[in-house]
Amino acid sequence: MLTYKQIIENKEVMTYVGRADETIKELGYTEHSFAHVGSVTQMVKYILETLGFSERMVELGMIAAHMHDIGNMLNREDHAQTSAIMAFNMLRDMGAEPDEITEICTAISNHDEGTAVPATPLAAALIIADKADVRRSRVRNNMLFSFDIHDRVNYSVTDSSLSIDDLKQKITLTLSIDTKYCTVMEYFEIFLGRMNLCQKAAKKLNLQFGLVINGQKMI
Ligand SMILES: [Fe+2]
Ligand SMILES: [Fe+2]
Repeated sequence: MLTYKQIIENKEVMTYVGRADETIKELGYTEHSFAHVGSVTQMVKYILETLGFSERMVELGMIAAHMHDIGNMLNREDHAQTSAIMAFNMLRDMGAEPDEITEICTAISNHDEGTAVPATPLAAALIIADKADVRRSRVRNNMLFSFDIHDRVNYSVTDSSLSIDDLKQKITLTLSIDTKYCTVMEYFEIFLGRMNLCQKAAKKLNLQFGLVINGQKMI
């Protein structure tokens, strides 16, 4: 059976994760490399484990998280779908089972807010984890001079955490925002679409979605 360890050590996967970030850097986007996929993988693991999914489903979720942005290597446009097709080919070459390829690729192709539908629990977990990775260190040094609203929103986030309550009824994204760089309204302007999608994804996992910014309950 294919493992997460095999995926992260696979030379082809490693190359595409790195090269995808190079392409995205040229387009002026925030960091989408190993730090991003690592953080998303840990959050997907946390969500699925906490909700009691099987060990195998957790592993498939982690594989999907690691490969979810490789399509950025080709173009940002439709990258969720190109990532899924690239993963599909690699997973087939590695001898993965069709059912497991389906779980992984459906999650990958449904993570971007333009086209995403939380079609499966894995897709839902990946959506929430991906949108929850906002942090200052995703803004590249050379962006400090151009600094558009996306950069300022990311730069303003000094701390973020994702947690599921003990009763497993609610998943909450808690952010600390430095309002010197971005107002809470600007955060909303950028994140409203993403937060709507997170609400739908949470529903797929039988959870409510909560957002707390600087101690204030926003959703
Ligand atoms: Fe993405
Ligand atoms: Fe991503």
